[in-house]
Amino acid sequence: MSLSIDEIQQLVEPARVHSSVYVDEELFQLEMERIWGRSWIYVGHESQVKNPGDYYTTSIGTYPVILIRDAKSKSLHVLHNRCGHRGAIVTQRQCGNAGVLRCPYHGWTYKTDGSIHAIPHVGGYKDTEFDKNDEEFSMKKLPRVEVYRGFVFACLSEDVEDLSDFLGEIADTIDNMCDRSPEGEVEVTGLNCHRFIHPCNWKFFLENLHDAMHPMCAHAGTSDAVRSYLSTMPEGTSPPPEAEIIDPFAGSYDFFDSMGVTGLDKGHGYMGGKKSIFSHYEMYPEYLEAMYSAYGKERTEEILSFNRHNACCYPSSTIRDGIQSIRVLRPVSVDSTIIESWTFRLKGAPEKLLQRTLRYSRLINSPGSMVGPDDLDCYYRIQESAKSKSIEWIDLQRYFGQDIKDDDKDTAPGTSDLAIRNQYKAWLNYMSREA
Ligand code: FES
Repeated sequence: MSLSIDEIQQLVEPARVHSSVYVDEELFQLEMERIWGRSWIYVGHESQVKNPGDYYTTSIGTYPVILIRDAKSKSLHVLHNRCGHRGAIVTQRQCGNAGVLRCPYHGWTYKTDGSIHAIPHVGGYKDTEFDKNDEEFSMKKLPRVEVYRGFVFACLSEDVEDLSDFLGEIADTIDNMCDRSPEGEVEVTGLNCHRFIHPCNWKFFLENLHDAMHPMCAHAGTSDAVRSYLSTMPEGTSPPPEAEIIDPFAGSYDFFDSMGVTGLDKGHGYMGGKKSIFSHYEMYPEYLEAMYSAYGKERTEEILSFNRHNACCYPSSTIRDGIQSIRVLRPVSVDSTIIESWTFRLKGAPEKLLQRTLRYSRLINSPGSMVGPDDLDCYYRIQESAKSKSIEWIDLQRYFGQDIKDDDKDTAPGTSDLAIRNQYKAWLNYMSREA
């Protein structure tokens, strides 16, 4: 690597970033090593691997990994998805169940804890330095794996703080999602997700989460059409449930300013907190009944009035408590990123709640959504400008210098660039640590 720390630090100023952060191959490799290799990354939910031997393949940065439930102890492991022999990716199946994992190249097999199960024609290793019990020949376990209320995070490096310290206030969002279940737990719906390939750098997606200046412009086509349709409905008719979801995308600047934006330590952040379209549940009386019976009226109201719009868990995911979804970033290369959108069922809640969650996911987060492709088109336009070097610096000055500082967080009106500046503060911290 030839980029020095000094050179990296010159790319991020307090209220602008250099466009090379989106297109430079060397910076991308350093990001994988220094950000994705050293922080807690969301891997999956334990309900994806309920039974002994269940596994799910994913990645941490560009490293392929497997989340697997031990066939004997039933504990969870996250393993490098590569063979201890010559390094082939052991399985490319998205998910499955296996007593042992078998490499397709020379047939080495591994137990569900990653240790070697058997090697064909093993006599050829007699009197060599090969040792079946040497971890080097195993499917190595990641050094740090922790679970927070069913959400599994892992780190490629041993040297990382405890997960609860890393999550900080973001844990409140996970708590709230789970507390919305009368049983206090969520589980993934189905075995898969909406998977959306973005031909652009991974950071655009995170930056857009709290960019409240764009919805009324970038999504105007959809929200104008919805409002126009609603205006034709006879008076007294209930609007279709889709309208409840799309309508806020046409909110005013004042509406988004009033939501507020919060920047937390380590690049995390969120918008809103108390006001959201998902604060009202009068139309789901069976759900309210189940919640009152589980928590009492006062606590239920406290749970349901807590609503954060996109809690960013930097760098790997963004969580919506009120709609029970998590979107996961999987960088592929400097200009390609997979965005996954997973939805969760509130255990003990009526099916209608899940339908609401799925409706939101299809309308907003899926590749065929009426909103997501608008965003992607905008990211792609910046990516192309950065690639052609037709723009050198990216501006981040909205409400700069006007943040309200608390001990461990900064807040600002919702249309501030605070969250993006906060992400780059974290980016710089990670990228300035050589080892
Ligand atoms: Fe896996 Fe040879 S590379 S068995």
